[in-house]
Amino acid sequence: MKTFTKISSEHKEYFIQLLGEENVFFKPEQLNEFGHDETEDFVFPPEVALTPRNTEQVSKVMTYCFKNHIPVTPIGSQTGLSGGALSLHGGVGLSMKKMNKIIQLDEQNLQITVEPGVITEEIQNAAIEKGLFYAPDPSSKGSCSIGGNLAENAGGPRAVKYGVTKDWVLNLEVVLPNGEIIWTGANTLKNSTGYNLTQLMVGSEGTIGIITKAVLKLIPYVPNNVSLLAPFKSAKKACEAVSAIFRAGITPSALEFMERDALDWIMNFDESINIKIEDDTKAHLLIEIDGSNLDLIYQECEKVGEVLTKYDCGEILFADNEAQKEEIWRMRRRIGEAVKSNSIYKEEDTVVPRYELPKLLEGVKSIGDKFGFKSVCYGHAGDGNLHINIIKGELTDKQWNEELHLAIREIFELTVSLGGTLSGEHGIGYVQKGYMDIAFNKVELGLLKSIKNVFDPTGIMNPGKLFV
Ligand code: LAC
Ligand code: ZN
Repeated sequence: MKTFTKISSEHKEYFIQLLGEENVFFKPEQLNEFGHDETEDFVFPPEVALTPRNTEQVSKVMTYCFKNHIPVTPIGSQTGLSGGALSLHGGVGLSMKKMNKIIQLDEQNLQITVEPGVITEEIQNAAIEKGLFYAPDPSSKGSCSIGGNLAENAGGPRAVKYGVTKDWVLNLEVVLPNGEIIWTGANTLKNSTGYNLTQLMVGSEGTIGIITKAVLKLIPYVPNNVSLLAPFKSAKKACEAVSAIFRAGITPSALEFMERDALDWIMNFDESINIKIEDDTKAHLLIEIDGSNLDLIYQECEKVGEVLTKYDCGEILFADNEAQKEEIWRMRRRIGEAVKSNSIYKEEDTVVPRYELPKLLEGVKSIGDKFGFKSVCYGHAGDGNLHINIIKGELTDKQWNEELHLAIREIFELTVSLGGTLSGEHGIGYVQKGYMDIAFNKVELGLLKSIKNVFDPTGIMNPGKLFV
């Protein structure tokens, strides 16, 4: 591949003319700020960071970079967990944070049109104000932006009932690597018109274009929910109970799994969370049931209780007031931060068909025994999506840096052998790209690369991501 052009003062001058001084950043400390997301402690600063304010500016930046062979890394609100926003090759870091307007909420068609920099929770709140619902709820919903959610196809607890980001996208405006502006589809709930460019763009991790507007689906607000926190003496039994809940005819609006250590760590990390855990508890399931009819919700909770009893669960905490619900959900949502603050770690985002979850958990623990590492697991059990946090603990730097990838390979091989895949919702980005050969054979990988090539023939768009 042709080497990328380094950013020169002439390039900076062009960007300043185009965007104004206040939207062009090149001081080292500013570049470091744009050079990280939430993936481990990586920092890959761009050579210049830009904050365009509209699609035309993004298009002009791309046209210029395309002509000059400058790499461009799209940057959302930097909460990603696979390194998608790291400017691995320097170049331009294209931050979408100033394109943060809700353009229109269409109450007639139940749709909302937004720019990529809008914080996900703001979309949820705008919908709620009109009695509507935008369901995807990544743990970072208060700080992540919709552009990043789209790029990574983010999920969250409610995905188990309402689907992930892709299921809420109707149409996207995209700037292609050569600067051309396209719309991927139509603002309709159905669309059988040619290849699905919209869904191709979702989850493409900024490697084939930059999303500059999104038309999202909304549904009528779902007013009621109740949460259950169920302790188990065996983590495996907790996992076994997961698929049994669905087999009993219930689709919870969230079904989360948390290992004991994750709970201890979060309570250390956030002392305002105080949930009593018995000494012999090894894991919890956190289950939310929602709907419009409270009586039905309570009936379903009872049914869930009956199922869980068969899997030896302890006393269930039933949370139906807002304060209790807020506390247990804050506990769940902040686990990632707690793990990060506790130890050097690597996080995997494995996903398997949900009935295979107990086998995945057991396998991860035995791979840990073999390689001598400890892991703390939690995640969206209802989706079979397990966040495996491998803890550095006593491992030497040599083991951590040179041998751990063999263990991760085994984890992914196990995952794929169970019918699963590498990432459920965090994406491949920088940190998982070395394992793509486990999920895809040569032919399949070749197709993925060909698609990238059609959109980005010169390879300037988020280089170094998805593929080795
Ligand atoms: C969560 C993030 C890490 O589930 O995906 O909390
Ligand atoms: Zn998650």
